[in-house]
Amino acid sequence: MRILLIADIHANWAAFSAVINHVDGAFDYCLCLGDLVDYGTDPHPCVNWIRNYADAVVRGNHDHALAQRVPAVGTSGLRRLAAMTRPLNRHQLDPSQIEFLRQLPVSRYFQVAGSKFYLVHATPRDPMDEYLGPDRERWKPRIEGIDAQFLCVGHSHTPFHLSIGDRQVINPGSVGQPRDGDWRASYAMIDEGKVEFHRVSYDLDACISQMKTTGMKAWAIELALAVLKSGGQMTREEMDAIRPDGEDVPEFRQTT
Ligand SMILES: [Fe+2]
Repeated sequence: MRILLIADIHANWAAFSAVINHVDGAFDYCLCLGDLVDYGTDPHPCVNWIRNYADAVVRGNHDHALAQRVPAVGTSGLRRLAAMTRPLNRHQLDPSQIEFLRQLPVSRYFQVAGSKFYLVHATPRDPMDEYLGPDRERWKPRIEGIDAQFLCVGHSHTPFHLSIGDRQVINPGSVGQPRDGDWRASYAMIDEGKVEFHRVSYDLDACISQMKTTGMKAWAIELALAVLKSGGQMTREEMDAIRPDGEDVPEFRQTT
């Protein structure tokens, strides 16, 4: 039995479609750990694929924010990019897709063939927002009370696999915006209980060409490309240096 784990697609269809091609249908179940939207500019096919083919999906903080019309306020770092793409993504999705995101559970169990999975975007303690990487000691108290062999998470955009007692904590990394220094799309496969991580190259030029068709501002496209190329390794100062001359900070404050 092969379980495909997907997280943090972030409206990057160029990356996600490359992952889908790489998997080539060789999975029995697909579990999605949330954050389908924001940062990228091609959310429609991403949400459609997950809605049609994922067997279980949980809500990410960006899904929540878009669906609930949480204002995307940002003057620095990646928040500027979210502030630019959130209203655009909301415009690009149809009402049924937004409703799909709105109704996603923040956590859920999934059981198949004797294996039990617990899905949450961030951590069981704070399902949508707590940022926690491969820190074994901090994960230990957070998995107490979780009645599942596999705890599957996203949010940190960093792939990892921790074995803690008889539990396994797995983050497949990010499809659409990796932050571990490797720009390639990341996903994981649990194959007969064994966890495999995969990286997939994709056409960044096609990704950027698509962005240019959306009317997104040139500085935002430049920022998105720089973040993707760096594998999420840019400093806040480096990100903030990419801005149009003379543009006032309040311009980045946008609401949906
Ligand atoms: Fe994310």
